[in-house]
Amino acid sequence: MTMKITTICGSNRRKGATKCILGSIEKEIKQANISGLKTKNISLSDVHLEPCKGCLKCKKKGHCVIPDDFGKIAFRMIHSDLIVIGSPVYFSDVSSPVKALIDRSVSLWHTKLLKDKKVIFVAATMESGTEHTLETLKIWAKDHEMNVISTIEGIGEEVKDVLSNEKTIQQIKDSVGAFKLTLPCES
Ligand SMILES: Cc1cc2nc3c(=O)[nH]c(=O)nc-3n(C[C@H](O)[C@H](O)[C@H](O)COP(=O)(O)O)c2cc1C
Repeated sequence: MTMKITTICGSNRRKGATKCILGSIEKEIKQANISGLKTKNISLSDVHLEPCKGCLKCKKKGHCVIPDDFGKIAFRMIHSDLIVIGSPVYFSDVSSPVKALIDRSVSLWHTKLLKDKKVIFVAATMESGTEHTLETLKIWAKDHEMNVISTIEGIGEEVKDVLSNEKTIQQIKDSVGAFKLTLPCES
């Protein structure tokens, strides 16, 4: 059986803390010996993702009418067994690319296409604001009736500090462990 995992990075910094934590989660998942694993990384800075126009044409049409990369991202999210979304903390909340993804997902919300989807949320910050950022993501998940496996906080003045934070390392290990527990036992 194929196990599809998608990581989505909401930072514009290619070598930033968010990317660094997502890379570490991916490494941990690879070490967890999950069979049939297929991982795809999406960096919101590399895709064309417009903000939601609020037209709600998606309600009638069944898909978003904006001609950009959202359809591809949505397809990938819908067909994933686990989605890991990471956001840098910007003024105690998610970054604008992550907010765009959240708002555009309204086109999937009408028919609950993300219902029961397993998600792990990551918030990377210099100092503070992870709680509120993760709350934004958790409220979004609740609205879609997704299954939040865990949340991870990356805190550090410099990018390199984030992965020397023992709490973050432990949260990464615990998150992958918690995801593994949701998988059916292999015979
Ligand atoms: C617009 C902006 C707002 C920020 N707001 C906060 C904040 O509220 N609290 C904080 O501790 N750090 C804040 N930071 C710092 C970032 O959260 C921090 O640099 C984080 O590591 C960025 O993630 P990245 O390296 O993946 O881009 C802010 C940075 C920017 C550019």
